[in-house]
Amino acid sequence: MLILGLESSCDDCSAAVVEETPEGPRLRALVRRSQDDLHAPYGGVVPELAAREHLLQMASVVREALGQAGIGLDDLDRIAVTQGPGLVGCLLTTFSAAKALAWRLDLPLVPVHHLLGHLNAARFAAPDLPFPALVLLVSGGHTHLYLARDWTTLELLQKTRDDAAGEAFDKTARLLGLGYPGGPRVDRCAQRADRAAASFAAPRFRDGRAAWSFSGLKTAVKLRVQADPRLAAAGAEDAEVQALCRAVQEAICAWLLKPLPALAAATGARALVVSGGVACNSSLREQAGRLAQRLGLVLAIPEPRLCTDNGAMVAAAGARLAAEPRPLELNADPDLPLAAGASF
Ligand code: KG4
Ligand code: ZN
Repeated sequence: MLILGLESSCDDCSAAVVEETPEGPRLRALVRRSQDDLHAPYGGVVPELAAREHLLQMASVVREALGQAGIGLDDLDRIAVTQGPGLVGCLLTTFSAAKALAWRLDLPLVPVHHLLGHLNAARFAAPDLPFPALVLLVSGGHTHLYLARDWTTLELLQKTRDDAAGEAFDKTARLLGLGYPGGPRVDRCAQRADRAAASFAAPRFRDGRAAWSFSGLKTAVKLRVQADPRLAAAGAEDAEVQALCRAVQEAICAWLLKPLPALAAATGARALVVSGGVACNSSLREQAGRLAQRLGLVLAIPEPRLCTDNGAMVAAAGARLAAEPRPLELNADPDLPLAAGASF
């Protein structure tokens, strides 16, 4: 079965061709056009600009993906597309394109929840993953821990109360004048550090409930920059900037992984999946690997190009989900909940 997967829920315009085989999904083509240069002057994604750019790019992104795979539209067996959650204009652009293609080619259309996409990115690395699995989804919009009983169900265990981990990376980069997108730049700076700056205190909640919080970390970084304004313009070569990036990265990784041992024991988890843009982080990948080994969990972290938003994860999820019988009646949903039985 050959699936075209389309994803444009935020600022990445991506199409992929995936062949579903009895051994698991095989990536035949992946095209991803980033809009980093478009949004860089604003320090973050501008939704209207992103949607217009998707409109301009998606047709040629699809053509390029088909070319890479060496197939034509008539060879496709189904089309999978992100239905939500995400930025409404961005979702609508590509969802409409997918509906039009499915109608024109008389193909089944599979609407995919964005987070099920991130989970299914792990199918490329570990098609035989044992379940239940703990699934840490960390990106610019999400910091959620789920329990997956299979590839299509996610039960929420814990999430952030405020900012996502990716936002903390992006905001740190902004405060230090490192540019956009921030996560990879903080990561590179932290790797070059010869030490870490003073550590950050982990947030504690009065009600004692299990959750994450990253807004305080943003403020703490801001206060350190205010106390030493030189940091804001010192740049990535500066040892103090590198040490601060190392401390921020250590805090985020430690906080993200802290609840996992207890939850693995409580749920009987057999595997750990880490996905979403922040799963590209070198330190998080390394520490998650060590933790999984210590806990005896099978680890699945997609390769970096499959951790950030991409069409391949949507196609891989689309292979496991039912096609929609009345696709023309469907539409994108920026607040799409996970299916019944699962919680968002
Ligand atoms: O999944 P994604 O591409 O888009 C969303 O759905 O948000 O994730 C983007 C986020 C951004 O916040 C970006 O800074 C972060 O992932 N990111 C990283 C790294 N690469 C991307 N954060 C930390 N370290 C990285 N190497
Ligand atoms: Zn995402």
